[in-house]
Amino acid sequence: MDELDSTNSELLRHIQSYDNLSVIAARRQTQGRGQRGNKWLSEPGANLTFSILLKPDVLEAKDFMSITFLAASAVRDFLADEGIPAQVKWPNDIYAGKRKICGMLIENGLEGGRIAHSVIGIGINLNQTCFPESIPNPTSMNLLTGREFDPQQTLEKLLSYFDTGALAHAEELRSRYLHGLFQKDVPRQYRDVVSGEEFTGTIRDVEPGGRLVMETAQGTRLFSFKELSYIL
Ligand code: BTN
Repeated sequence: MDELDSTNSELLRHIQSYDNLSVIAARRQTQGRGQRGNKWLSEPGANLTFSILLKPDVLEAKDFMSITFLAASAVRDFLADEGIPAQVKWPNDIYAGKRKICGMLIENGLEGGRIAHSVIGIGINLNQTCFPESIPNPTSMNLLTGREFDPQQTLEKLLSYFDTGALAHAEELRSRYLHGLFQKDVPRQYRDVVSGEEFTGTIRDVEPGGRLVMETAQGTRLFSFKELSYIL
C-alpha cells in the first residue's frame, strides 16, 4: 500500500477477512506504532514497514514467546546473510553493534487459552541515513553496507526466513534466539526501571515465558518486559 495509518492496525481492523500468512507493507505509515505506546517514525519509501498475520492452528497462549523467538531470529539471520552481523536485544529489537536497525511490535489475540491470531509488525531501516534526534542510536542497512536496498525485493527475501512450521518446536526456537542475544554472558550496566537502581549484571537466559534471567552480585534476578533498561 502507498499509505496506511499502521500496517498492524490495518490487519487488526479486518482480522477476519485476512488469511493466515497475509502480509501488508506500506510505503508510508501516518501513525506507525512502536512498543510502549511510542511512535515508529520511518522516512516514506526508504525503509520497510510491514506486518505479517499468523493464524496458528495450534499455539497455546503460554507459548506466545515462540512468535518473538521466530521473528527476531528470522530478521537476525537475514541481516547476517546480507553481511550485517546483528543481535537481538531482548525482547525483540535488532541491534547492529550498539545501534537499532529494526523494531517489532507483536500483537496477539487469544481465544480459550490459544493464540487465535498474531500480528507481527516489523520496521527495518533500509536506506534512511538521517534520523530525527528523538530516535536513540538508529542505523540502517545502507549506513552499514553502503548499498541501496529495493524495498519490494528486500521484503520478499526477508519473508523467506520466516519458517512458521518451526512454531511447533518451541525449545529449538528459544535456543536459536538465545544464540544471538545481545550482551549475553557479558557483564554490562543496566537500570531497574521499577526502582531506578543501576547495576552490573550478566544476561544468562530468557525463560520460555519471556523473562530475562540476569546474574548479579546479589544473585540471579528475573525481569519481565518493561522492567529493565540497558545503559549503552
Ligand atoms: C518498536 O521498536 O518500538 C517497535 C516498532 C514496530 C514498527 C512496525 S512498522 C510496521 C508495523 N506497523 C506499526 O504501526 N508498527 C510496526
